[in-house]
Amino acid sequence: MKVKLSNGRSIPIEMHKVRIVQKTTLPPIRQRLRAMEEAGYNTFLLRTRDLFIDMLTDSGTNAMSDNQLASMMVSDDAYAGGESYYKMLDAVKDVLGFEYCVPVHQGRAAEHLLAKIFVKPGGVVPMNYHFTTTKAHFEMALGKVLEIYREDALQTESTNPFKGNLDLDKFQKVIDEYGADRVSFVRMEATTNLIGGQPFSLENLCGVRKIAEKHGIPVIIDCSLISENAYFIQQREAGYADKTIAEIVLEMMSHADLIYLSGRKSTCVRGGLIATKHKKYFDQLVAWLPVYEGFITYGGMSSKEIEAMAVGLREMVDPDIASSSADLIEYFVNQMVQRGIPAVTPPGGLAGHVDAMKFLPHIPQSQYPAGAMAAALFLASGVRSMERGTISMDRDEQGNDVLSDVELCRMAVPRRVYSMSHIDYVVDRLEWLLHHRDLVGGLEFYHEPPVLRFFTGKLKTLDNWGSRLADAFAADFGENY
Ligand code: F0G
Repeated sequence: MKVKLSNGRSIPIEMHKVRIVQKTTLPPIRQRLRAMEEAGYNTFLLRTRDLFIDMLTDSGTNAMSDNQLASMMVSDDAYAGGESYYKMLDAVKDVLGFEYCVPVHQGRAAEHLLAKIFVKPGGVVPMNYHFTTTKAHFEMALGKVLEIYREDALQTESTNPFKGNLDLDKFQKVIDEYGADRVSFVRMEATTNLIGGQPFSLENLCGVRKIAEKHGIPVIIDCSLISENAYFIQQREAGYADKTIAEIVLEMMSHADLIYLSGRKSTCVRGGLIATKHKKYFDQLVAWLPVYEGFITYGGMSSKEIEAMAVGLREMVDPDIASSSADLIEYFVNQMVQRGIPAVTPPGGLAGHVDAMKFLPHIPQSQYPAGAMAAALFLASGVRSMERGTISMDRDEQGNDVLSDVELCRMAVPRRVYSMSHIDYVVDRLEWLLHHRDLVGGLEFYHEPPVLRFFTGKLKTLDNWGSRLADAFAADFGENY
């Protein structure tokens, strides 16, 4: 929620009390340099003891509510038929409106099963934008991912409130070109992760549905960040200001044949699910579930997390929770813009993002500017962010880098974890880094896994810039920060 102060300024305000805390420390600059070198300039490989503010992701790092934690105490640990599953099923029916649901251990497990069932060799999957694990699974099933976003989706500075919209003309062209039979399904990702947490509109979703239905193509929504997308629809789309988040979510779901989600985001647990209104899809899923995930009533999740997910599904449509990180992100983005930091606009969900090609214009994409920025930000602040650029793309069949459409440094804002003072600190260190950006150079791999290399790959600095940046930081702030 945002409150208006007497001076007219609007600030994000926490609609919760903090009752359990986890201590953090700010490791000084030389410790950060050592840790970054050991981590191969890959923020994934840092240990949390060596960092201050963890903005790597909002995945599994949100604060759970008292009701979620309490629900875990009454979970039903049965191998089969556990009551916790039925509570989740009820929540799915009430909040999402679907009759059938299976738990899975996390979002990518859902993508794996969907790839198995829907994606045939030579099939195509049009979508508003890919997510890394989605693309990996669909391509491993020998399908082709077609991103059919609108022209301005990749413009990092924009006023378009719905950069996550799918281009309906291109969708029709895909059907004409490949034939409806080869279109496995159309996938809409809520609050599109890789282009800066940008939502799609209900009008657009409705248009997607119409075309898909005409050609018998299933509509699948990745609902990992669904409550934020619904919140943006309420705030930004004409005709929805008076609708509740719960009503908007249900309206969105009415256009889907099947949805899946990583429960690690909007629902604030660790797990995932697939839900559908069609029994035939449910039956197909149930056939594979015990092979890859587990029995139908737990699907790879612990019963405690299933119980907490049932609560999390209901809580995510509470307006104070749906807006909890989105409003702080808006504040974050506005602060960055005021200081000349090239943030992705309009503010989206999940994170504050910076366009690394604008922040570090002297680093070519082949030297991974977003990765260099994430590493440099860590050195300058102890803040762990994530590269969302070329390092997050795998090489093509010839072994060449596939240059990413955008090079983003993503600073995730997990729900109900950080406060305005944390954000002010991050913005301050980003501004310092902007003034010292000439010291930052590129990176090159020295250890590179073949798939999803960004998770565990290791890189080194070109020309030892890490030490130079650390020296400049120590000269300005001393050795203790
Ligand atoms: N879909 C979307 C839109 C996601 O953001 C993620 C994960 C997944 C699917 C996969 O889910 O991690 O539970 O297996 N996003 C995380 C992130 C990893 O940091 O943005 P998962």
